[in-house]
Amino acid sequence: MSPKVLVSKHVWPAAIDLLRAHAEVDYRDESESMPTSELCERLAGARALVCQLTDPITPEVMDAEPELAVIANVAVGYDNIDVAAASERGILVTNTPGVLTDTTADFAWALLMATARRVAEADRFLRAGRWGQWEIDLLCGQDVHHQTLGILGMGRIGQAFAARARGFSMRILYNDAVRADEALEAELGLEFAPLETVLEQADFLSLHVPYLPETHHLIGAAELDRMKPTAMLVNTARGSVVDEAALAAALASGSIAGAGLDVFEEEPQVDPGLLELERVVLAPHIASASVATRTRMCTMAAENVIAALASDPPPNLVNPEALERRASGL
Ligand code: DGY
Repeated sequence: MSPKVLVSKHVWPAAIDLLRAHAEVDYRDESESMPTSELCERLAGARALVCQLTDPITPEVMDAEPELAVIANVAVGYDNIDVAAASERGILVTNTPGVLTDTTADFAWALLMATARRVAEADRFLRAGRWGQWEIDLLCGQDVHHQTLGILGMGRIGQAFAARARGFSMRILYNDAVRADEALEAELGLEFAPLETVLEQADFLSLHVPYLPETHHLIGAAELDRMKPTAMLVNTARGSVVDEAALAAALASGSIAGAGLDVFEEEPQVDPGLLELERVVLAPHIASASVATRTRMCTMAAENVIAALASDPPPNLVNPEALERRASGL
């Protein structure tokens, strides 16, 4: 009998085709995530779960089906999954790294440019019929070229973001828990600096760290206070890396000049203070949203499931300790 795979919500169809060649697929083709109680019920008999970042995968969910062997998240981030609890239970957890790196870096640049050059504001202005004539000081923004770029997090996406700064002849300061090697620093023109220095000197600060207990509110009131009043913040990482209320307050008081935000602490809620500010560009968590990338994320998740069901190590396993646990018979 084919193993059962539960797909928790709508995915690009190529992933379902792939899965159906190997498993019995219970596909819930809905755009909203289901409540935990429903997810627990629907997991009955499933060996694999394909889920998304809007699905909190708690120990309660994992215990709903003792035969559950793999949880495949359709995202590179997996802070929606209690990975330690999965490992304890010998459940493999996988993600979709790599494929979304360039697409996400492109979008971080789109936010940076839109914020610096007031693109969203200009669009609203024109559509509202407010354009009278060319004026010398109409919607003047800030130059990006030859400015100092700060990057927090120099993993795959941070590097792709930095590589794009070359065309803008920027100085790049960065900080990360682990310093990049010399060759990479030389190739991308990176200067490693303490967090305080990056905060104080950056004209634009872009966040590319994973969400971990250590990165919770990495940017809070004190950090925002260190930034230049002309500085702009870009966040395509995770909402809770920034204290959103502190950011709204800093923007409202002019302690920093603008922000381009794709992620929020309580998605889909956005701090009402942010919604009122012209110099903030807001997007609904779409940094990886190109057709090609989102399709590939879904097929990667399917490939991870297929490997796990065949007892092969999945290509994008985030908790190898779960494999050991399975091998030792739990
Ligand atoms: C991820 O993959 O973690 C993004 O936030 C969604 O693409």
